[in-house]
Amino acid sequence: MTEQHIIIAIDGPAAAGKGTLSRRLASRYGLRHLDTGLTYRATAKALLDRGLPLDDEDTAADVARNLDLSGLDRSVLAQHGVGEAASTVAVMPKVRRALVDAQRAFAASPPGAVLDGRDIGTVVCPDARVKFYVTASPEVRARRRYEEIVSQGGSAELSAILADLEKRDARDAGRTDSPLRPAADAHLLDTSEMGIEAAFEAACVLVDAALRN
Ligand code: CDP
Repeated sequence: MTEQHIIIAIDGPAAAGKGTLSRRLASRYGLRHLDTGLTYRATAKALLDRGLPLDDEDTAADVARNLDLSGLDRSVLAQHGVGEAASTVAVMPKVRRALVDAQRAFAASPPGAVLDGRDIGTVVCPDARVKFYVTASPEVRARRRYEEIVSQGGSAELSAILADLEKRDARDAGRTDSPLRPAADAHLLDTSEMGIEAAFEAACVLVDAALRN
């Protein structure tokens, strides 16, 4: 990798603000962006669409190996059921291995990339130049997800969203393979009382400092 090759790793639980922050950072620093959650979602959706079981590791890993990263689109992968199914297949080591290989290949291509997910700083890109762990209280995250759904014309119940987020956090943090946790050298960004603009500005100060070193 050249001096200019920059990888920024962004991890954190559901609805913490990783997506917006990642896109803004990618645009500011001229990097490509990969939302790795979409790779798990796309694997799950392909299984669901083909009527294949969600609990067969070899079948799911086969699907994961054949995934085309260039066609990932959150709008078609956004459904609640797909997110649930994604966190189910995400506990399978063979699925993770296939997707992590593809994610690393994406990160290795110049000029570098911003990757967001659950295990970027710990497993996928442990040598990333800058790492962030973005979090917010469960109540704030549930409120954000609720507003997102309502603004898109959907309907939802706040208490159900909160219960669901907490269940998914527990599954992501409790799994044996690549559990959700901050890397030792990650900068913590708690966005509970911080708007996205403030989080972005705080992140830029830290990226700029890392790039100067
Ligand atoms: O957008 P949301 O936060 O709901 O989730 P996502 O980022 O789309 O990821 C969906 C699921 O994929 C997560 O709940 C994780 O179980 C899994 N995932 C993972 O295990 N590792 C990653 N690097 C990214 C997502």
